Amino acid sequence: MVSAVNVLAVLGVLLAIPHLYRIASFVWLYILRPTSIKRYLHGPKGGAYAIVTGATDGIGKATAAELLRNGFNVILHGRNEAKMQKVVEELRARVPEKKDADVRYFIADAAQGGHDFEKIIEPFKDLHITLVYHNVGGSDMSGLRLDERTTENVQGLVNMNALFPLFLNRALLPHLRRNAKSGPVLVHFVGSVAGDIAPPRLAVYAATKGFLESLTRGLDNDELFFDGPTGVRYTYLAVAAVHSDNHEAPIATSVTTPTTETFAKGIIRRTGCGRRRVAPYWVHAVMQYFINEVMSDGMIDQAGAEEMRGLIAQAKKGRIM
Ligand SMILES: NC(=O)c1ccc[n+]([C@@H]2O[C@H](COP(=O)([O-])OP(=O)(O)OC[C@H]3O[C@@H](n4cnc5c(N)ncnc54)[C@H](OP(=O)(O)O)[C@@H]3O)[C@@H](O)[C@H]2O)c1
Repeated sequence: MVSAVNVLAVLGVLLAIPHLYRIASFVWLYILRPTSIKRYLHGPKGGAYAIVTGATDGIGKATAAELLRNGFNVILHGRNEAKMQKVVEELRARVPEKKDADVRYFIADAAQGGHDFEKIIEPFKDLHITLVYHNVGGSDMSGLRLDERTTENVQGLVNMNALFPLFLNRALLPHLRRNAKSGPVLVHFVGSVAGDIAPPRLAVYAATKGFLESLTRGLDNDELFFDGPTGVRYTYLAVAAVHSDNHEAPIATSVTTPTTETFAKGIIRRTGCGRRRVAPYWVHAVMQYFINEVMSDGMIDQAGAEEMRGLIAQAKKGRIM
């Protein structure tokens, strides 16, 4: 006869399977899985190119350095040409072993609308671009509500975080599909945990990141089905706090707030992992598990509000170090 203990034991095993699977895939993704970044080094003799927007500081600059180290030529984007020229020199000095790599750039204020994206990409359209990191983005810690912000401020946030990557990607797509004929091509949208928790005073920024996550899925489906697969794929990078000296109130580095260098290594390690949404840094993955699957919305909303109160107060005082 089947005892109640046996039934409970079977039930326990069945309930444990999803959790064991989750732990196993975490260990695979963050510890065991070898990097697949070299799969994107295909194409003609001149080599493969990666585009990084918002590459003159923070995560973008560190990612560009890692891409160079891994054998890519890079096309960088920024808004300030003098700063860009210094960054190009700095990158060359940081990665002397790749002195022959091609480093190009373009300048465009992402917060402004009305760019001619076809014209922007004209000098690069024949290059063999295989990786794109739509990284430009951010918000302010002004603590202003929506109706306290100017139209220009709100429009600038939407332009920089959502419309600039959308339209740049639109202009690049035919060229990316052509490049995908010789190997995989991957486009990343750099997101934020703010898109999951939408804390007070960051509503517009959070909404733009939600837009990017949905766009990732929709565009990935576009390339996979009907006339696909085309070989172009999409990934949303789920980012929590990362230290950047460029911020008006930089958060001190800690295990939950890595340096941009550590974070960029995570981006490279996770590139091509096959997930549509991935946290490049393992601690952020654990945090997002608790935020999205363990804690209640009420707890998250309270904690997010407290965190924002602290960050806005610190930003008013100056740097958070
Ligand atoms: N760091 C974090 O804690 C964190 C957390 C979640 C998500 N993220 C996301 O990660 C991405 C990178 O953030 P980050 O912290 O590395 O930012 P960052 O250090 O402030 O660097 C932002 C980069 O974008 C450029 N940029 C800013 N405004 C621009 C504009 N209007 N036009 C053109 N370029 C502009 C900056 O240029 P300048 O050098 O001229 O300033 C810089 O190159 C963003 O999408 C952000 O939303 C970051």
